[in-house]
Amino acid sequence: MRVLVIGSGGREHALVWKLKQSPLVDDVYAAPGNGGTAREGAININIPADDIAGLVTFARREEIGLVVPGPELALTLGITDAMKEAGIPCFGPDAYCARLEGSKAFAKDVMRRAGVPTAACAVFDDLDAARAHVRAVGAPLVVKADGLAAGKGVVVARTSEEALAALDEIMGRKAFGKAGSRVVIEECLIGEEASFLCLCDGLRAVPLPSAQDHKAVYDGDKGPNTGGMGAYSPAPVLPDEDAERMADLVSRPILRQLAEDGHPFVGVLYAGLMMTADGPKVLEYNTRFGDPECQPLLMRLDGDLVEIMQAALAGDLSAVPVRQKPESALGVVICARGYPQSYPKGMPIEGLDEAEADGAKVFHSGTVVENGVCKANGGRVLCVTALGKTLKEAQDKAYAAVAKIRIPDSFHRSDIGEKGIRRLQQQQNAR
Ligand code: AMP
Ligand code: GLY
Repeated sequence: MRVLVIGSGGREHALVWKLKQSPLVDDVYAAPGNGGTAREGAININIPADDIAGLVTFARREEIGLVVPGPELALTLGITDAMKEAGIPCFGPDAYCARLEGSKAFAKDVMRRAGVPTAACAVFDDLDAARAHVRAVGAPLVVKADGLAAGKGVVVARTSEEALAALDEIMGRKAFGKAGSRVVIEECLIGEEASFLCLCDGLRAVPLPSAQDHKAVYDGDKGPNTGGMGAYSPAPVLPDEDAERMADLVSRPILRQLAEDGHPFVGVLYAGLMMTADGPKVLEYNTRFGDPECQPLLMRLDGDLVEIMQAALAGDLSAVPVRQKPESALGVVICARGYPQSYPKGMPIEGLDEAEADGAKVFHSGTVVENGVCKANGGRVLCVTALGKTLKEAQDKAYAAVAKIRIPDSFHRSDIGEKGIRRLQQQQNAR
């Protein structure tokens, strides 16, 4: 079978790597892919992830048997609906379900109807009304652009002035374009965050082990938010034995609600959770694998991802085992200096093979191969991922591999996994 992976990041490299291990697969194509997908043996094709018509034409012509979209934009633009119309199986939700991620107001409405715990909120289409609400309730508050804003449309405001400034930025100056013509203003929740992903077949949700992202750019969760500077699994704040209960709380009610709306959800439902003193609450849903969570999660997944995706598309995930390796996995993202603001490109990358010599895996987030040389080509360049018997061992192995990689003008966080290791120590001390 031929498989088409859509996207160009570390998540898509990990998907290519895992899908290629399936005996069912002959060729993997990546649109547009990156240096890592090419090194993995995928055929990169020059079609952007948001060119839905171009992707369908390609998939038809090449008789693609399975399409796997990585990024949210393709999903909200209706890639799954378009592929379905062409008779091509596509592992991802339809455009209706993808609005769970594409519109925060829609997500809030589905959560309310499904009875899922989340922050109290109000939705505004009018700047003056939104300003009046901020003045009435006071800070702290969270202001969110309704639409897709590449993870940048959320402001956690400590003061009313900050919240008002965020409203001016999002609704007044339209910093995120149409994504900000509506805003969601939320109660500010306090706690530790965790990513909880389920594989879904329309009816069933099969939990993957928990993961934790590191959104802030600098050590100690300082600095502006990024796409994610590293991730590990499992996250001790959400242990494996709680996964089924969590799926009952935040995933299965959503599947039931969407099915009732006439749109069964097939694909990955990712709940971004805040573990508060009042229990877990959903901050947001994504309708795809997270990046970089996907990299450690797929290193732990023990089984044939093609079989799993096909079973989900056939509406029966209970037909295949979804097993996990018992090890922990941890990924460290190496970035170009300046990210998440402007950054240089084109730096040569050395040490990739040495880094993988002891079993670590280097997933490429933003690279390109030019004349046989692998070069940096994005803000996030690599995600160096390793398995270990413990979280600490996974951390040690990942950082040992990072130390072997040389990229001019690059940096990484040096504390990926620390929060989890600290929590494990506290749990041990409490025993
Ligand atoms: P979102 O895109 O909705 O997940 O928001 C991005 C980030 O903003 C989250 O990962 C949290 O760190 C923070 N955040 C979002 N909503 C809230 C909230 N209600 N309370 C506190 N922090 C939040
Ligand atoms: N790592 C967060 C995301 O993929 O949205």
